[in-house]
Amino acid sequence: MNAKLITVIAFIGILSSCHFKSPDRSNSAEMFNEKYRPQYHFSPPTNWMNDPNGMVYHDGEYHLFYQHYPDGNKWGPMHWGHAVSSDMIHWEHLPIALYPDSLGYIFSGSAVIDVNNTTGFGSKEKPAMVAIYTYHDAKAEREGKVDFQTQGIALSLDNGRTWTKYKGNPVLNNPGIRDFRDPKVSWNEKLNKWVMILAVKDHVTIYSSPDLKNWAFESEFGNDIGAHGGVWECPDLFPLTDDSGSTHWVMLVSINPGGPQGGSATQYFVGQFDGSEFIPYDTITRWVDYGADNYAGVTWSNIPESDGRRLFLGWMSNWQYANEVPTTEWRSAMTIPRELKLQFIDKEPALISTPVDELKKLESTPVKFSETINLKNSLFKLDLKPTELPFELHFSNDLNDELIISFTRENVKVNRANSGKTGFSDLFPATHFMDMKGKPMNNIQVYSDRSSLELFINGGQLVMSELVFPNSPYNKLWITNKNVESEITYLKPIW
Ligand code: FRU
Repeated sequence: MNAKLITVIAFIGILSSCHFKSPDRSNSAEMFNEKYRPQYHFSPPTNWMNDPNGMVYHDGEYHLFYQHYPDGNKWGPMHWGHAVSSDMIHWEHLPIALYPDSLGYIFSGSAVIDVNNTTGFGSKEKPAMVAIYTYHDAKAEREGKVDFQTQGIALSLDNGRTWTKYKGNPVLNNPGIRDFRDPKVSWNEKLNKWVMILAVKDHVTIYSSPDLKNWAFESEFGNDIGAHGGVWECPDLFPLTDDSGSTHWVMLVSINPGGPQGGSATQYFVGQFDGSEFIPYDTITRWVDYGADNYAGVTWSNIPESDGRRLFLGWMSNWQYANEVPTTEWRSAMTIPRELKLQFIDKEPALISTPVDELKKLESTPVKFSETINLKNSLFKLDLKPTELPFELHFSNDLNDELIISFTRENVKVNRANSGKTGFSDLFPATHFMDMKGKPMNNIQVYSDRSSLELFINGGQLVMSELVFPNSPYNKLWITNKNVESEITYLKPIW
């Protein structure tokens, strides 16, 4: 997010918090039934949410912390909200984990389990959960300083239920750069140290530490590679093994603006990492998701080896209009949790994203149909196999809203212009393109919820996530070519 914008929105946030009283809400299904409230995607009980933070698996629980402003439904002074799940699909909302303090708001970051007790915060028998996050000192920013973002840590000895900030914070001072944030930390076997990847203005910096408290510079990456239409944010760096058994390293870097649809998006690089320096295989900019609405996504830490998956979650919005989308009690949802895999297609690395298998729990019996279908509700998955191109999907309702997605040999095009409520931002109704030249269109999966569609093409080789706000739920789907084998599977709500 642009630093000036942050200041302005924070100010508005503080003002609006004076009038806005947080409704008292529990975890019940009735409470999560507002118009547009996602029924199988994670969303906060009330008020504002942006990036997923501190994603870590521990003792049977997937933890999801998130950027949260509890006193209003626009971006404001950031806290870490918190929820846990045993399957990444059904969530239990927990009290706020981290509150702003004298060092600043709590911006994005990660969490680890300190199994070797390198911090001395816990013990080997009962390791601490440690959050590593950015402090954003809004006062210092207002005073015109540039060193207002630093990194801090906090510990929990009760599975993330209560937190203590480390007295020695900040653990990483600012070297005089305005954008210096979003630490993602992991244990590196080669170095036998913690490694942090941090977004620094228009590149990333890698640091290492024996104890999460003392950090040393290792290397920089990205000054002259990748997209540079905006500031770099929320990086991640992790190994992935391809089908042939070779291990490669994947770096995710979100960028805002400058994504393929203009605003926020996440690019990735594939290469090798020796614990100190990341060397990419090529200089091509590739995108995790070509849709407008998947930002700041990172992966879960500490997934047991017996599971071995690399699990990803993104914020399903875009800074172009995130503060304006037409929802009231809450604002924003996360994407479907996705498993990431690496494949080499025509010798080029490709990050493959597929919905996690756990989502299948929500599925009912699939039903085949041809060309048109009356939709019972908005919660479904479509499986499409085109034996001929082009074709279009027309989702419509009785109020003449229509979302059109077209598939040709050249591209996939999502046209939200007449999709429902679009007037909250000039940028929302834009048509979004994803290039398909030279690529097949073997199979398409579309996941629909009350206010989103996620497209997975060729088994997740290409992805588009898109928000949509129909005035009433789309109740009809027309496929403009009968040579598309089509199947619909309704999904059960999670609340
Ligand atoms: C990304 C971001 C991060 C920052 C957070 C503030 O969406 O701008 O860089 O830490 O949001 O809420």
